Amino acid sequence: MSDQSQTRRSMLYRLGQGLMGLGGAVMAAPIVAYIFDPGFRKFARSWIDLGNVSDFPKGTVRFAKYTNPNAAPTDGDSKQIPCWVRHAEDGTFQVFYVNCAHLGCPVRWFAQSRLFMCPCHGGVYYEDGSRASGPPPRGLYEYSYEIKNDRLFVYGGELPNLSIPGTTPKDDRTPLTVGGKERKA
Ligand code: FES
Repeated sequence: MSDQSQTRRSMLYRLGQGLMGLGGAVMAAPIVAYIFDPGFRKFARSWIDLGNVSDFPKGTVRFAKYTNPNAAPTDGDSKQIPCWVRHAEDGTFQVFYVNCAHLGCPVRWFAQSRLFMCPCHGGVYYEDGSRASGPPPRGLYEYSYEIKNDRLFVYGGELPNLSIPGTTPKDDRTPLTVGGKERKA
């Protein structure tokens, strides 16, 4: 093998290594940002204003939407996150993720029967979010919420998962309620 072809081969080898290193750095950037940038993590979950308390009359379950705090400018309508807000007769609130606790289909509220129903496999939930029948292994996922200056806030910004019985934010704002009951921070 001539010296010239050996030099070309080693140049290509080094170029390939450089490109692989560059690709790895690009892929690792979001992970590194998540781990080391506290501002990035803080932005991931936050208190979100759902509206005036009077928008949710006592004894009703109303549909509401908020903008995902993690949304990118290119997310379009998918950054709008729906939820169900229940204002019970005793004055307490419950705010439910729309996602069924079985496989995540969006549940719908039926005011006549006062039940949430899932169109996918027939899961049914009572008005307080507890499981009534069908395949869901548990009740609906609930947001933590609080009332401030007559406005309803939820702690949002992540998908429901089994670690969210009613969420348990580390945020210090008080009083804080989960499922209508005061939570000790
Ligand atoms: S996803 Fe709702 S019952 Fe299966």
